[in-house]
Amino acid sequence: MKMTREQKYRRLEDVAPQEIEQLLHQSESSPWRQQYHIQPAMGLLNDPNGFAYYDGYYHLFYQWFPLGTDHGLKYWYHLKSTDLTNWIDCGIGVKPGDWFDSHGAYSGSGITHDGKLYLMYTGNTRDTQWQRHPYQCMAIMNEDGEIHKLKEPVIANVPAGYTDHFRDPKVWQDGEWFYCVIGAQRDDLTGAIVLYRSRHMLEWELLGELQTMLPQFGYMWECPDYFEMNGQAVLLFCPQGIASEGEQYRNIYQSGYVSGKPLQLPQLELEHGSFRELDVGFDFYAPQTALGPNGRRILVGWMGLPDIAYPTDDQGWAHCLTLPRELELRKDGVLLQRPVQELALRRGEKAEFAGILSEGRSSYAGIDGIAYELDCRVDLTAMDTNTTAAQAFGMELRVGEQEHTLLRYEANRQRLILDRSASGQPLAEDYGTIRSCELERPLERLQIFVDVSSIEIFANDGEAVFTSRIFPQPSSQGIVFFAEAGQVGLHVEKWNYC
Ligand code: FRU
Repeated sequence: MKMTREQKYRRLEDVAPQEIEQLLHQSESSPWRQQYHIQPAMGLLNDPNGFAYYDGYYHLFYQWFPLGTDHGLKYWYHLKSTDLTNWIDCGIGVKPGDWFDSHGAYSGSGITHDGKLYLMYTGNTRDTQWQRHPYQCMAIMNEDGEIHKLKEPVIANVPAGYTDHFRDPKVWQDGEWFYCVIGAQRDDLTGAIVLYRSRHMLEWELLGELQTMLPQFGYMWECPDYFEMNGQAVLLFCPQGIASEGEQYRNIYQSGYVSGKPLQLPQLELEHGSFRELDVGFDFYAPQTALGPNGRRILVGWMGLPDIAYPTDDQGWAHCLTLPRELELRKDGVLLQRPVQELALRRGEKAEFAGILSEGRSSYAGIDGIAYELDCRVDLTAMDTNTTAAQAFGMELRVGEQEHTLLRYEANRQRLILDRSASGQPLAEDYGTIRSCELERPLERLQIFVDVSSIEIFANDGEAVFTSRIFPQPSSQGIVFFAEAGQVGLHVEKWNYC
Protein backbone atom coordinates (compact mmCIF):
# COMPACT_ATOMS: atom_id res chain seq x y z
CA MET A 1 0.00 0.00 0.00
CA LYS A 2 1.41 3.38 -0.98
CA MET A 3 1.68 5.87 1.85
CA THR A 4 0.64 9.49 1.57
CA ARG A 5 3.25 12.22 1.78
CA GLU A 6 2.03 13.07 5.24
CA GLN A 7 2.44 9.47 6.40
CA LYS A 8 5.89 9.23 4.88
CA TYR A 9 7.27 12.29 6.65
CA ARG A 10 5.92 11.63 10.15
CA ARG A 11 8.61 11.61 12.81
CA LEU A 12 9.08 8.66 15.07
CA GLU A 13 8.64 10.89 18.13
CA ASP A 14 5.15 11.83 16.93
CA VAL A 15 3.95 8.24 16.82
CA ALA A 16 2.11 6.64 19.72
CA PRO A 17 3.91 3.70 21.43
CA GLN A 18 0.96 1.39 20.64
CA GLU A 19 1.37 2.07 16.94
CA ILE A 20 5.07 1.24 17.16
CA GLU A 21 4.24 -1.95 19.05
CA GLN A 22 1.85 -2.89 16.30
CA LEU A 23 4.42 -2.21 13.57
CA LEU A 24 7.02 -4.28 15.43
CA HIS A 25 4.56 -7.07 15.90
CA GLN A 26 3.62 -7.01 12.24
CA SER A 27 7.20 -7.41 11.04
CA GLU A 28 8.03 -10.01 13.70
CA SER A 29 5.19 -12.12 12.33
CA SER A 30 6.68 -12.16 8.83
CA PRO A 31 7.80 -15.63 7.72
CA TRP A 32 10.77 -14.07 5.91
CA ARG A 33 12.64 -12.50 8.84
CA GLN A 34 16.34 -13.22 8.46
CA GLN A 35 18.33 -15.10 11.09
CA TYR A 36 21.81 -13.66 10.69
CA HIS A 37 21.64 -10.66 8.38
CA ILE A 38 21.30 -7.06 9.51
CA GLN A 39 17.66 -6.12 9.02
CA PRO A 40 15.38 -3.41 10.41
CA ALA A 41 13.14 -4.28 13.36
CA MET A 42 10.38 -2.65 11.32
CA GLY A 43 10.11 -0.38 8.31
CA LEU A 44 12.55 -0.04 5.46
CA LEU A 45 16.33 -0.37 5.41
CA ASN A 46 18.40 0.87 2.50
CA ASP A 47 22.02 1.93 2.06
CA PRO A 48 24.82 1.14 4.50
CA ASN A 49 26.24 4.42 5.84
CA GLY A 50 29.06 5.71 8.03
CA PHE A 51 30.92 2.39 7.83
CA ALA A 52 34.21 2.95 9.67
CA TYR A 53 36.57 1.42 12.19
CA TYR A 54 36.69 3.65 15.26
CA ASP A 55 37.67 3.10 18.88
CA GLY A 56 38.06 -0.67 18.58
CA TYR A 57 34.79 -1.30 16.72
CA TYR A 58 33.48 -1.41 13.21
CA HIS A 59 30.63 1.08 13.19
CA LEU A 60 27.91 0.57 10.63
CA PHE A 61 24.77 2.59 10.10
CA TYR A 62 21.95 2.11 7.66
CA GLN A 63 19.31 4.26 6.06
CA TRP A 64 16.08 3.60 7.91
CA PHE A 65 12.50 4.64 7.49
CA PRO A 66 10.81 3.15 10.56
CA LEU A 67 7.13 3.69 9.81
CA GLY A 68 6.55 1.76 6.61
CA THR A 69 8.19 0.20 3.60
CA ASP A 70 8.05 3.27 1.37
CA HIS A 71 11.04 5.58 1.11
CA GLY A 72 9.92 8.09 3.74
CA LEU A 73 11.77 10.14 6.34
CA LYS A 74 15.20 8.55 6.64
CA TYR A 75 17.12 8.06 9.89
CA TRP A 76 20.54 6.53 10.38
CA TYR A 77 20.37 3.37 12.50
CA HIS A 78 23.59 2.41 14.30
CA LEU A 79 25.30 -0.94 14.97
CA LYS A 80 28.83 -1.79 16.05
CA SER A 81 30.93 -4.92 16.10
CA THR A 82 34.45 -6.07 16.88
CA ASP A 83 34.26 -8.99 14.45
CA LEU A 84 31.91 -7.94 11.61
CA THR A 85 29.71 -10.88 12.61
CA ASN A 86 28.14 -10.20 16.02
CA TRP A 87 26.58 -6.76 15.98
CA ILE A 88 25.63 -4.63 18.97
CA ASP A 89 22.46 -2.62 18.48
CA CYS A 90 23.20 1.03 19.27
CA GLY A 91 19.81 2.45 18.29
CA ILE A 92 19.19 5.51 16.19
CA GLY A 93 22.40 7.25 15.17
CA VAL A 94 21.36 10.33 13.23
CA LYS A 95 17.89 11.77 13.62
CA PRO A 96 16.52 14.02 10.89
CA GLY A 97 14.38 17.07 11.57
CA ASP A 98 16.58 20.17 11.58
CA TRP A 99 16.14 22.76 8.85
CA PHE A 100 19.00 21.21 6.87
CA ASP A 101 17.74 17.60 7.10
CA SER A 102 14.01 18.14 7.58
CA HIS A 103 13.13 15.48 5.00
CA GLY A 104 15.71 12.89 5.83
CA ALA A 105 19.28 12.19 6.92
CA TYR A 106 20.36 10.72 3.60
CA SER A 107 23.43 8.63 2.89
CA GLY A 108 26.97 9.48 3.88
CA SER A 109 30.14 8.13 5.41
CA GLY A 110 32.28 8.11 8.52
CA ILE A 111 35.93 8.79 9.28
CA THR A 112 38.02 9.15 12.42
CA HIS A 113 39.39 12.60 13.18
CA ASP A 114 40.65 14.12 16.43
CA GLY A 115 39.65 11.04 18.41
CA LYS A 116 36.05 11.23 17.22
CA LEU A 117 33.99 9.68 14.45
CA TYR A 118 32.90 12.29 11.93
CA LEU A 119 29.76 11.38 10.02
CA MET A 120 29.20 13.37 6.86
CA TYR A 121 25.80 12.94 5.26
CA THR A 122 23.28 14.59 2.98
CA GLY A 123 20.49 16.54 4.61
CA ASN A 124 17.48 16.16 2.38
CA THR A 125 14.98 19.01 2.44
CA ARG A 126 11.91 19.92 0.39
CA ASP A 127 10.42 23.39 0.09
CA THR A 128 6.73 24.20 -0.13
CA GLN A 129 6.80 23.52 -3.89
CA TRP A 130 8.28 20.12 -3.02
CA GLN A 131 11.58 21.18 -4.62
CA ARG A 132 14.55 19.29 -3.22
CA HIS A 133 17.42 21.23 -1.55
CA PRO A 134 20.30 19.00 -0.47
CA TYR A 135 22.83 20.07 2.19
CA GLN A 136 25.98 18.23 3.15
CA CYS A 137 25.94 17.96 6.93
CA MET A 138 28.15 16.70 9.74
CA ALA A 139 27.42 14.75 12.87
CA ILE A 140 30.18 13.92 15.33
CA MET A 141 30.29 10.88 17.58
CA ASN A 142 32.46 10.81 20.69
CA GLU A 143 33.98 7.86 22.52
CA ASP A 144 30.83 7.48 24.58
CA GLY A 145 28.86 6.92 21.42
CA GLU A 146 27.00 10.24 21.68
CA ILE A 147 26.26 11.77 18.32
CA HIS A 148 25.79 15.52 17.90
CA LYS A 149 24.87 17.20 14.65
CA LEU A 150 26.54 20.47 13.73
CA LYS A 151 24.10 23.39 13.64
CA GLU A 152 24.91 24.34 10.05
CA PRO A 153 25.67 22.27 6.97
CA VAL A 154 29.34 22.02 5.99
CA ILE A 155 28.47 22.38 2.30
CA ALA A 156 25.40 24.53 1.88
CA ASN A 157 25.19 24.86 -1.90
CA VAL A 158 24.98 22.68 -4.94
CA PRO A 159 27.73 23.96 -7.24
CA ALA A 160 26.76 25.54 -10.56
CA GLY A 161 26.21 23.03 -13.32
CA TYR A 162 24.42 20.38 -11.20
CA THR A 163 20.81 19.64 -10.31
CA ASP A 164 19.39 19.05 -6.83
CA HIS A 165 20.38 15.38 -7.15
CA PHE A 166 23.58 15.98 -5.23
CA ARG A 167 24.23 13.60 -2.35
CA ASP A 168 26.04 10.75 -0.56
CA PRO A 169 29.41 12.23 0.53
CA LYS A 170 32.14 9.62 1.03
CA VAL A 171 35.20 10.89 2.88
CA TRP A 172 38.79 9.63 3.00
CA GLN A 173 42.07 10.96 4.28
CA ASP A 174 45.29 11.42 2.37
CA GLY A 175 48.09 12.97 4.38
CA GLU A 176 46.92 16.25 5.88
CA TRP A 177 43.86 16.52 3.67
CA PHE A 178 40.43 15.00 3.84
CA TYR A 179 38.73 14.45 0.50
CA CYS A 180 35.13 13.76 -0.25
CA VAL A 181 33.32 12.56 -3.36
CA ILE A 182 29.65 13.41 -3.86
CA GLY A 183 27.24 11.78 -6.32
CA ALA A 184 25.74 14.26 -8.74
CA GLN A 185 23.61 14.91 -11.77
CA ARG A 186 24.75 17.51 -14.28
CA ASP A 187 22.33 20.11 -15.61
CA ASP A 188 22.26 18.14 -18.87
CA LEU A 189 20.89 15.19 -16.84
CA THR A 190 23.96 12.98 -16.92
CA GLY A 191 25.62 11.42 -13.89
CA ALA A 192 28.91 12.61 -12.39
CA ILE A 193 31.00 12.79 -9.23
CA VAL A 194 32.25 15.98 -7.62
CA LEU A 195 35.33 16.25 -5.38
CA TYR A 196 35.94 18.48 -2.34
CA ARG A 197 38.77 18.74 0.14
CA SER A 198 39.14 19.96 3.68
CA ARG A 199 41.78 20.27 6.38
CA HIS A 200 39.62 19.69 9.43
CA MET A 201 36.33 18.40 8.02
CA LEU A 202 34.43 21.60 8.72
CA GLU A 203 35.07 23.83 5.72
CA TRP A 204 35.13 22.17 2.36
CA GLU A 205 36.72 23.51 -0.81
CA LEU A 206 35.24 22.48 -4.14
CA LEU A 207 37.94 21.01 -6.38
CA GLY A 208 35.65 20.15 -9.30
CA GLU A 209 34.27 17.18 -11.15
CA LEU A 210 36.14 13.90 -11.45
CA GLN A 211 37.29 13.52 -15.04
CA THR A 212 36.44 9.90 -15.63
CA MET A 213 36.43 8.13 -18.97
CA LEU A 214 32.64 7.73 -18.73
CA PRO A 215 31.32 11.22 -19.50
CA GLN A 216 27.90 9.94 -20.58
CA PHE A 217 26.92 6.98 -18.46
CA GLY A 218 23.42 7.22 -17.07
CA TYR A 219 21.43 10.12 -15.62
CA MET A 220 22.62 10.03 -11.99
CA TRP A 221 25.50 8.51 -10.04
CA GLU A 222 24.63 7.63 -6.46
CA CYS A 223 26.80 6.52 -3.55
CA PRO A 224 30.35 7.04 -4.83
CA ASP A 225 33.29 5.58 -2.92
CA TYR A 226 36.96 6.15 -3.76
CA PHE A 227 39.93 4.26 -2.34
CA GLU A 228 43.40 3.16 -3.30
CA MET A 229 44.84 -0.32 -2.90
CA ASN A 230 48.31 -1.52 -3.88
CA GLY A 231 49.00 1.68 -5.77
CA GLN A 232 45.81 1.51 -7.84
CA ALA A 233 42.61 3.52 -7.53
CA VAL A 234 39.09 2.11 -7.28
CA LEU A 235 35.99 4.20 -7.76
CA LEU A 236 32.70 2.56 -6.82
CA PHE A 237 29.44 4.20 -7.83
CA CYS A 238 25.85 3.42 -8.73
CA PRO A 239 24.86 4.74 -12.13
CA GLN A 240 21.16 4.98 -12.86
CA GLY A 241 19.73 4.84 -16.36
CA ILE A 242 22.02 2.26 -17.98
CA ALA A 243 20.33 0.01 -20.55
CA SER A 244 20.94 -3.72 -20.18
CA GLU A 245 23.43 -5.30 -22.56
CA GLY A 246 23.29 -9.09 -22.78
CA GLU A 247 24.02 -10.44 -19.30
CA GLN A 248 25.15 -7.04 -18.03
CA TYR A 249 23.17 -4.30 -16.30
CA ARG A 250 20.09 -6.42 -15.79
CA ASN A 251 18.81 -4.82 -12.58
CA ILE A 252 16.82 -1.60 -12.44
CA TYR A 253 19.95 0.33 -11.29
CA GLN A 254 23.58 -0.69 -11.40
CA SER A 255 26.36 -0.86 -8.86
CA GLY A 256 29.92 -1.23 -10.00
CA TYR A 257 33.43 0.16 -10.19
CA VAL A 258 36.25 1.32 -12.35
CA SER A 259 39.90 0.90 -11.39
CA GLY A 260 43.09 2.42 -12.67
CA LYS A 261 45.76 4.97 -11.84
CA PRO A 262 45.39 7.01 -8.66
CA LEU A 263 43.45 10.23 -9.06
CA GLN A 264 45.57 13.01 -10.48
CA LEU A 265 45.24 16.40 -8.80
CA PRO A 266 44.73 19.19 -9.66
CA GLN A 267 43.47 17.95 -13.05
CA LEU A 268 41.09 15.52 -11.27
CA GLU A 269 41.81 12.98 -13.95
CA LEU A 270 41.01 9.35 -13.37
CA GLU A 271 42.48 7.05 -15.99
CA HIS A 272 40.73 3.73 -15.67
CA GLY A 273 39.53 0.54 -17.33
CA SER A 274 35.99 -0.49 -18.11
CA PHE A 275 33.07 -0.33 -15.68
CA ARG A 276 32.48 -3.67 -13.97
CA GLU A 277 29.47 -4.66 -11.96
CA LEU A 278 30.22 -5.69 -8.41
CA ASP A 279 27.57 -8.36 -8.15
CA VAL A 280 25.79 -10.63 -10.61
CA GLY A 281 22.70 -11.13 -8.41
CA PHE A 282 19.25 -9.62 -8.44
CA ASP A 283 19.41 -7.53 -5.27
CA PHE A 284 22.52 -5.49 -4.67
CA TYR A 285 22.95 -1.73 -4.49
CA ALA A 286 24.64 1.25 -2.83
CA PRO A 287 27.61 -0.56 -1.24
CA GLN A 288 30.07 1.21 1.00
CA THR A 289 33.59 0.26 2.09
CA ALA A 290 35.51 0.79 5.30
CA LEU A 291 39.20 0.55 6.02
CA GLY A 292 39.76 -1.90 8.87
CA PRO A 293 42.81 -2.54 11.00
CA ASN A 294 45.84 -3.77 9.03
CA GLY A 295 44.60 -1.95 5.96
CA ARG A 296 41.88 -4.43 5.09
CA ARG A 297 39.08 -3.04 2.92
CA ILE A 298 35.61 -4.33 3.79
CA LEU A 299 32.48 -3.84 1.70
CA VAL A 300 28.84 -4.04 2.76
CA GLY A 301 25.94 -3.49 0.37
CA TRP A 302 22.21 -3.02 0.51
CA MET A 303 20.52 -6.31 -0.42
CA GLY A 304 17.75 -4.52 -2.26
CA LEU A 305 17.04 -1.93 -4.90
CA PRO A 306 15.01 1.25 -5.08
CA ASP A 307 11.72 1.30 -7.00
CA ILE A 308 11.13 -2.47 -6.81
CA ALA A 309 8.26 -4.04 -4.84
CA TYR A 310 9.31 -6.79 -2.40
CA PRO A 311 7.12 -9.53 -0.91
CA THR A 312 7.65 -8.27 2.65
CA ASP A 313 6.40 -4.76 1.83
CA ASP A 314 2.97 -5.53 3.20
CA GLN A 315 4.44 -7.31 6.23
CA GLY A 316 5.79 -4.09 7.68
CA TRP A 317 9.49 -4.41 6.84
CA ALA A 318 11.79 -4.47 3.84
CA HIS A 319 15.40 -5.33 3.03
CA CYS A 320 18.60 -6.26 4.77
CA LEU A 321 22.32 -5.66 4.35
CA THR A 322 24.69 -8.09 2.66
CA LEU A 323 27.31 -10.00 4.61
CA PRO A 324 30.59 -8.09 4.84
CA ARG A 325 33.12 -8.93 2.14
CA GLU A 326 36.83 -8.40 2.13
CA LEU A 327 38.21 -6.89 -1.05
CA GLU A 328 41.38 -7.74 -2.86
CA LEU A 329 42.45 -5.82 -5.95
CA ARG A 330 44.20 -7.93 -8.55
CA LYS A 331 47.04 -6.45 -10.58
CA ASP A 332 44.75 -6.31 -13.61
CA GLY A 333 42.34 -4.08 -11.71
CA VAL A 334 39.70 -6.72 -10.99
CA LEU A 335 38.24 -6.73 -7.48
CA LEU A 336 37.94 -10.07 -5.74
CA GLN A 337 35.30 -10.22 -3.01
CA ARG A 338 35.38 -12.86 -0.29
CA PRO A 339 33.11 -13.24 2.70
CA VAL A 340 35.05 -12.04 5.76
CA GLN A 341 36.71 -14.91 7.61
CA GLU A 342 35.11 -13.89 10.90
CA LEU A 343 31.79 -15.24 9.61
CA ALA A 344 33.11 -18.65 10.63
CA LEU A 345 32.25 -17.56 14.20
CA ARG A 346 28.65 -18.24 13.27
CA ARG A 347 29.28 -21.82 12.29
CA GLY A 348 27.13 -24.22 14.29
CA GLU A 349 26.34 -27.85 13.67
CA LYS A 350 28.23 -29.33 10.73
CA ALA A 351 27.31 -31.88 8.06
CA GLU A 352 29.67 -33.05 5.35
CA PHE A 353 29.88 -35.11 2.20
CA ALA A 354 33.00 -36.06 0.30
CA GLY A 355 32.90 -38.36 -2.70
CA ILE A 356 31.73 -38.75 -6.25
CA LEU A 357 28.46 -37.31 -7.42
CA SER A 358 27.46 -39.61 -10.28
CA GLU A 359 25.31 -38.53 -13.17
CA GLY A 360 21.85 -37.81 -11.77
CA ARG A 361 20.51 -36.19 -8.62
CA SER A 362 21.60 -36.72 -4.99
CA SER A 363 20.89 -35.40 -1.52
CA TYR A 364 23.07 -36.02 1.53
CA ALA A 365 22.18 -36.59 5.17
CA GLY A 366 22.15 -33.37 7.17
CA ILE A 367 22.84 -31.20 4.14
CA ASP A 368 19.69 -29.12 4.08
CA GLY A 369 18.21 -26.22 5.99
CA ILE A 370 17.06 -22.63 6.02
CA ALA A 371 20.05 -20.68 7.40
CA TYR A 372 23.52 -22.02 6.69
CA GLU A 373 26.87 -21.75 4.98
CA LEU A 374 27.64 -24.29 2.31
CA ASP A 375 31.20 -24.65 1.10
CA CYS A 376 31.50 -26.84 -2.00
CA ARG A 377 34.81 -27.86 -3.56
CA VAL A 378 34.13 -29.11 -7.04
CA ASP A 379 36.37 -31.28 -9.17
CA LEU A 380 35.26 -31.32 -12.77
CA THR A 381 38.25 -33.11 -14.21
CA ALA A 382 37.99 -36.76 -15.32
CA MET A 383 39.43 -39.02 -12.59
CA ASP A 384 40.79 -41.61 -15.05
CA THR A 385 40.25 -42.87 -18.58
CA ASN A 386 37.07 -44.74 -17.59
CA THR A 387 35.24 -41.70 -16.29
CA THR A 388 33.87 -38.57 -17.85
CA ALA A 389 33.61 -35.27 -16.09
CA ALA A 390 30.09 -33.85 -15.97
CA GLN A 391 29.11 -31.28 -18.57
CA ALA A 392 26.87 -29.55 -16.11
CA PHE A 393 26.81 -29.53 -12.35
CA GLY A 394 24.65 -27.70 -9.88
CA MET A 395 22.26 -27.71 -7.03
CA GLU A 396 18.75 -26.81 -6.08
CA LEU A 397 18.50 -24.98 -2.78
CA ARG A 398 15.53 -24.29 -0.52
CA VAL A 399 13.76 -27.17 -2.22
CA GLY A 400 10.11 -27.76 -1.36
CA GLU A 401 7.29 -29.54 -3.10
CA GLN A 402 6.62 -26.65 -5.44
CA GLU A 403 9.79 -24.62 -5.39
CA HIS A 404 13.55 -24.45 -5.49
CA THR A 405 16.33 -21.99 -6.28
CA LEU A 406 18.56 -23.28 -9.04
CA LEU A 407 22.30 -22.82 -9.35
CA ARG A 408 23.78 -24.42 -12.44
CA TYR A 409 27.26 -24.51 -13.89
CA GLU A 410 27.85 -25.37 -17.54
CA ALA A 411 31.38 -26.60 -17.97
CA ASN A 412 31.81 -26.04 -21.70
CA ARG A 413 30.90 -22.35 -21.43
CA GLN A 414 32.27 -21.91 -17.86
CA ARG A 415 28.96 -20.29 -17.17
CA LEU A 416 27.38 -20.03 -13.73
CA ILE A 417 23.63 -19.47 -13.72
CA LEU A 418 21.27 -18.49 -10.90
CA ASP A 419 17.59 -19.04 -11.64
CA ARG A 420 15.02 -17.80 -9.15
CA SER A 421 11.98 -18.34 -11.37
CA ALA A 422 10.75 -21.11 -9.03
CA SER A 423 12.23 -19.76 -5.78
CA GLY A 424 8.91 -18.97 -4.12
CA GLN A 425 6.97 -15.72 -4.08
CA PRO A 426 8.04 -13.94 -7.28
CA LEU A 427 9.40 -10.42 -7.43
CA ALA A 428 10.80 -7.98 -10.00
CA GLU A 429 10.00 -10.40 -12.81
CA ASP A 430 10.09 -7.55 -15.32
CA TYR A 431 13.84 -7.62 -14.83
CA GLY A 432 14.09 -11.34 -15.58
CA THR A 433 14.45 -14.38 -13.34
CA ILE A 434 17.91 -15.56 -14.42
CA ARG A 435 21.34 -14.06 -13.83
CA SER A 436 24.53 -15.58 -15.15
CA CYS A 437 28.17 -14.89 -15.81
CA GLU A 438 31.12 -16.55 -17.42
CA LEU A 439 33.86 -17.50 -14.99
CA GLU A 440 37.49 -16.84 -15.88
CA ARG A 441 38.52 -20.36 -14.93
CA PRO A 442 36.67 -23.65 -14.44
CA LEU A 443 34.51 -23.83 -11.35
CA GLU A 444 36.38 -25.07 -8.28
CA ARG A 445 34.59 -23.60 -5.31
CA LEU A 446 31.18 -22.30 -4.38
CA GLN A 447 30.72 -20.70 -1.00
CA ILE A 448 27.02 -20.13 -0.42
CA PHE A 449 25.28 -18.32 2.43
CA VAL A 450 21.58 -19.01 2.70
CA ASP A 451 19.36 -17.18 5.15
CA VAL A 452 15.58 -17.34 5.50
CA SER A 453 15.00 -15.03 2.54
CA SER A 454 18.34 -14.55 0.84
CA ILE A 455 21.22 -16.26 -0.89
CA GLU A 456 24.78 -15.02 -1.44
CA ILE A 457 26.99 -17.10 -3.71
CA PHE A 458 30.76 -16.59 -3.94
CA ALA A 459 32.32 -18.44 -6.88
CA ASN A 460 35.99 -19.38 -7.16
CA ASP A 461 37.19 -17.45 -4.13
CA GLY A 462 35.66 -14.12 -4.89
CA GLU A 463 35.78 -14.05 -8.68
CA ALA A 464 32.01 -13.58 -8.93
CA VAL A 465 29.27 -12.94 -6.37
CA PHE A 466 25.53 -13.41 -6.80
CA THR A 467 23.44 -11.70 -4.10
CA SER A 468 19.71 -12.20 -4.14
CA ARG A 469 16.59 -12.20 -2.06
CA ILE A 470 14.37 -15.26 -2.38
CA PHE A 471 10.99 -15.80 -0.74
CA PRO A 472 10.34 -19.53 -0.33
CA GLN A 473 8.11 -21.30 2.18
CA PRO A 474 9.78 -21.94 5.55
CA SER A 475 9.27 -25.66 4.94
CA SER A 476 11.35 -25.62 1.75
CA GLN A 477 14.65 -26.79 3.16
CA GLY A 478 16.03 -29.41 0.79
CA ILE A 479 19.27 -29.34 -1.16
CA VAL A 480 19.62 -31.50 -4.26
CA PHE A 481 22.91 -31.77 -6.13
CA PHE A 482 22.99 -32.85 -9.76
CA ALA A 483 25.49 -33.83 -12.41
CA GLU A 484 24.74 -34.16 -16.12
CA ALA A 485 26.52 -36.31 -18.70
CA GLY A 486 29.31 -37.36 -16.35
CA GLN A 487 30.42 -37.20 -12.75
CA VAL A 488 31.78 -34.65 -10.32
CA GLY A 489 34.20 -34.94 -7.43
CA LEU A 490 32.53 -33.14 -4.56
CA HIS A 491 33.46 -32.09 -1.06
CA VAL A 492 30.61 -30.27 0.67
CA GLU A 493 30.74 -28.83 4.15
CA LYS A 494 27.62 -27.30 5.63
CA TRP A 495 27.30 -25.39 8.87
CA ASN A 496 24.05 -24.22 10.35
CA TYR A 497 24.04 -20.51 11.11
CA CYS A 498 22.08 -18.72 13.71
C1 FRU B 1 20.52 5.25 -2.71
C2 FRU B 1 19.90 6.53 -2.18
C3 FRU B 1 20.96 7.60 -1.94
C4 FRU B 1 20.27 8.46 -0.94
C5 FRU B 1 19.55 7.45 -0.09
C6 FRU B 1 18.25 7.96 0.49
O1 FRU B 1 19.72 4.14 -2.50
O2 FRU B 1 18.93 6.98 -3.08
O3 FRU B 1 21.36 8.26 -3.10
O4 FRU B 1 21.16 9.23 -0.19
O5 FRU B 1 19.28 6.36 -0.92
O6 FRU B 1 17.71 7.02 1.36
